[in-house]
Amino acid sequence: MLDDAVRISGVDLTNPEVYQAGIPLEAFRELRRRAPVAWHPYSAGPGFWALTGYDDILAVSRDSSTWSSERSGVFFDAPPPEEAYQLSLMMLTMDPPRHTALRTLVSKGFTPRHVARLKGRMADLAAEIVEGVLDRGECDFVSDIAGALPSFMIAELLGISHEDGRRLYELTETMNSERVGAATESVIQAQLEMFEYASALAERKRVDPGDDIATALLQAEVEGQRLTELEFNLFFLLMINAGGDTTRNLVAAGTLTLLEHPGERARLVAEPGLLSTAIEEMLRYVSPVNVFTRTATKDTELRGVRIAEGDRVALFFPSANRDETRFRDPDRFDIGRDPNPHLAFGGGGTHFCLGANLARVEAAAIFPEILARMRDLELAGPVERVRSTLMNGIHSMPVRFTAA
Ligand code: HEM
Repeated sequence: MLDDAVRISGVDLTNPEVYQAGIPLEAFRELRRRAPVAWHPYSAGPGFWALTGYDDILAVSRDSSTWSSERSGVFFDAPPPEEAYQLSLMMLTMDPPRHTALRTLVSKGFTPRHVARLKGRMADLAAEIVEGVLDRGECDFVSDIAGALPSFMIAELLGISHEDGRRLYELTETMNSERVGAATESVIQAQLEMFEYASALAERKRVDPGDDIATALLQAEVEGQRLTELEFNLFFLLMINAGGDTTRNLVAAGTLTLLEHPGERARLVAEPGLLSTAIEEMLRYVSPVNVFTRTATKDTELRGVRIAEGDRVALFFPSANRDETRFRDPDRFDIGRDPNPHLAFGGGGTHFCLGANLARVEAAAIFPEILARMRDLELAGPVERVRSTLMNGIHSMPVRFTAA
């Protein structure tokens, strides 16, 4: 008999409103306990096996020959049909060996030297962002602080002005706001502008190279191969998409979690040396990316459940991150938790987040500023979460504080 995830958990995991109300922790717990590999129907397409246990999610992530990202993509809701957007997901939705070749090439842009250089710049930028709101005594934490950070980071990565970074980030917001359903004029327009920008940038950097990731990507060579112009443009789009909302959500939801746990917040203020374990704990607790899917390339089995070739499985990262067999007292927010082998950046397979260290650098730059300068930070209105099956995030979060 098939275990039906909806019947067992009482929740439809394909409904974006579920996540808008908060991560369905109770439903995930019930599934981990009763049916960690459970069939989940989907009204808008083929169903899938919902995987909620840490070990299964890890195993599937690490075996891309059995579990394909390419055969039917990585989303249970198909991305919109317009070509540019689908293509932009290329790297995420490729299998080895095609994926390996591209990944090796783009990894050349993310050298330790680049990350180290960004570290210094991010500290200044984070100070600037917080400084920018201090006089007001209140702000929308998401757009003014958490959202400003990735757009500045994009600018630094690409060696472009902050103004342009803001504009590109706005364009991704337009593109992502309409991920479901037909492409509207504004989405197509945004994609076009993004592509034109990427092409012009490539042109500029070829003539006038800089010490930035855009230049490194254009110059990178593996076995005589370089990125084509199309590949550069698509990777550019993926980088802005993958690095924007995710980091914004980590910073916004991480801050909210600190507000909800005043003891842990005070502990972090008193012991700044806990910052790096605190960031890992925020990643675990908040899990900005909710789910990606894979498709079985052959008949196989997970925990004794038979899975047919062509069936999809959905990896629910927030559930893995609360798995009681891996994390002691998993619902406790403990900024000193160590070890903390969370799966917020994926399960360590071929698609493991390429920007994980950049995201950590951004978080490590902004949190000390928030804690030191936005004294008595508190909510000043209702928190509105993002309506999405893909992202666990916060749309708006009015706050007030005293400048320090
Ligand atoms: C808190 C912030 C972030 C989170 C939670 C996050 C999470 C993830 C996850 C879960 C994956 C898929 C992993 C898998 O399937 O195994 C991924 C892939 C990826 N991420 Fe991130 N990410 C973050 C920030 C960033 C940043 C800042 C960048 C770049 C600037 C970035 C670039 C990418 C890319 C390019 C991939 C695709 C890698 C591939 O397919 O080989 N991410 N990320």
